[in-house]
Amino acid sequence: MSRAAPYFSENEQVVLFEGDCLELLASLPDESMQLVVTSPPYNLGKAYEQKSALDRYLEWQDKVIEACIRVLRPEGSICWQVGNFVQAGAIVPLDIALYPSFAQRGLKLRNRVIWHFEHGLHCSRRLSGRHETILWFTKTEQYFFDLDAIRVPQKYPGKKHFKGPKAGQYSCNPLGKNPGDVWVIPNVKNNHVEKTIHPCQFPIELVERLVLSMTRSEDWILDPFAGVGSALVAALKNERRAVGAELSPEYCAIARERIFQCVSGFLKSRPMNQPIYDPGKAGRALTTPPIRHATQLCFPDAVSAQGAPE
Ligand SMILES: C[S@@+](CC[C@H](N)C(=O)[O-])C[C@H]1O[C@@H](n2cnc3c(N)ncnc32)[C@H](O)[C@@H]1O
Repeated sequence: MSRAAPYFSENEQVVLFEGDCLELLASLPDESMQLVVTSPPYNLGKAYEQKSALDRYLEWQDKVIEACIRVLRPEGSICWQVGNFVQAGAIVPLDIALYPSFAQRGLKLRNRVIWHFEHGLHCSRRLSGRHETILWFTKTEQYFFDLDAIRVPQKYPGKKHFKGPKAGQYSCNPLGKNPGDVWVIPNVKNNHVEKTIHPCQFPIELVERLVLSMTRSEDWILDPFAGVGSALVAALKNERRAVGAELSPEYCAIARERIFQCVSGFLKSRPMNQPIYDPGKAGRALTTPPIRHATQLCFPDAVSAQGAPE
């Protein structure tokens, strides 16, 4: 297998449907997907969407969510990754607006993960947005979750209990700690190794964390708004099966190429848990501010330690 099949069949490894997600969803069997992970359009009028009234947008999302719940396995999870709808400078957090579509159908919210990143638009009349959220819902109480698969290094791995019956024993889990519900993962901007022409693609590592903890090998993962296929390759990289829909023929072509590169072993991706790049620590020029500004007034010692001009 090195190519994506155009239509769903349970015998395939990867399927990319070029068309409307509701059409793809109608072709999927009941309770066949272990994980639905997606980032839908936010109704902002980006290149790939037509802005509509918020009510109409939410009605459309509700239909897609209903169809996703039908195809979700009882042990499965849905991760809906969204930011804000913005109108005349006022924001509507889409996770809050969409929550009822899941809750009214009996799904349980397990986490509202904050995805923090450092790059984006600079606002002048409000604080610049530097996070989005992932709503993680499960269909039932018997959901699959493998925490060990996504543990991260402990801050103090050598720490021991100092009193009581466990005195002298290591106090933390040797496999690492729970990654928590605030994830600091670079978003895919121009100098990111995964950047394509898509304006808002998923970092593959973000989806990998969900894939590894919420699915087993060979399980099906669905992305109804597949874009350039980041969720599909996150699934394939980890021996899962993947199906997605995408309206844009241009994004589909890039997704097919990325799938091909992934199964051929030469798709470039940022490794999971790689520390965030810090240009100051890396000794890069241009990290000293040329003018005195608010941070220097607040933290004069920190600034003089960097050798900034007074
Ligand atoms: C936020 S982007 C998703 C990007 C994706 N996560 C990635 O990593 O490339 C939303 C995508 O949904 C696609 N889209 C919009 N309406 C759609 C529909 N009805 N069916 C399928 N795809 C749709 C858009 O073309 C866009 O690429």
